[in-house]
Amino acid sequence: MYLEALGLRENPFSITSDPAFLYLSRKHREALSHMVYGIRERKGFIEITGEIGTGKTTLCKTLLRHLDPTTKSALILQPALSDLQLLQLIVQDFGMNPMRTNRLNLFNQINQFLLEQATLGHNIVLILDEAQNLNLRTLEQIRMLSNLETDKQKLIQIVLVGQPQLREKLSRPELEQLRQRIGVRFHITALDLDEVCTYIDHRLRVAGSDGTLEWTQDGAEEVFRCSKGVPRLINQICDRSLLACYVYRVKRIDGEIVRRSYQELVAPVAVS
Ligand SMILES: Nc1ncnc2c1ncn2[C@@H]1O[C@H](COP(=O)(O)OP(=O)(O)OP(=O)(O)O)[C@@H](O)[C@H]1O
Ligand SMILES: [Mg+2]
Repeated sequence: MYLEALGLRENPFSITSDPAFLYLSRKHREALSHMVYGIRERKGFIEITGEIGTGKTTLCKTLLRHLDPTTKSALILQPALSDLQLLQLIVQDFGMNPMRTNRLNLFNQINQFLLEQATLGHNIVLILDEAQNLNLRTLEQIRMLSNLETDKQKLIQIVLVGQPQLREKLSRPELEQLRQRIGVRFHITALDLDEVCTYIDHRLRVAGSDGTLEWTQDGAEEVFRCSKGVPRLINQICDRSLLACYVYRVKRIDGEIVRRSYQELVAPVAVS
């Protein structure tokens, strides 16, 4: 109901990852280009890192829409599973039935699939989100998956996406072989002030804002200051600010409203 009062069709700052609200900042575009390039050029391993809430999962989902039709993909969003479960999930996501229940058989099933797809001229990509949670043994297992190649090219490209601890994990001596196979790396940083302003405008527009609501420059600057440009935090702060706007019966979001809303978020009971 409060959305209607503010001239909005839907919630502009939901923290779910709705592709309709996608805003590709320069960093997000660059990250996407690195992924697409690494896959197209068959670079083997691609490493994408970013702090919490900077848009990694959003990018993984966006990537799927940027692959050409001859590229078959599997996206694993929660790889903190056992080795066996992970292999089963990979098999399933590639559209097969993981009938076989031991590691070796599942491995063979994937290898067979890769060879079949190669004869059809298809490229294969496996995207593993939250890859910082993979243990060393699983990472080593994933490296072995990538061993299959013809004289000319790799049959599977593997995109490892994770928080900065992923980089630390990959620098462990036990993972030297995997590290040497990383052909593309990119680190996503937070949005700068201009991008935060555009991000807010973009989301309001997509949510059907009819102009009733005004988000001042000072309000956007305060969002930037409080969120440090991290999209999930931007959404939380902006969402709270919208609610405040409704409660105070105003149609203008300025620095003061954002500041108060942020304080309520970080210290819900300490606000006078
Ligand atoms: N490029 C973007 N365009 C629009 N919204 C975005 C974008 N990036 C992030 N968001 C918003 O921020 C939220 C957090 O993004 P996302 O879940 O992709 O971050 P993450 O880096 O995967 O976080 P975590 O480190 O917790 O896994 C998303 O649900 C979405 O609402
Ligand atoms: Mg994520």
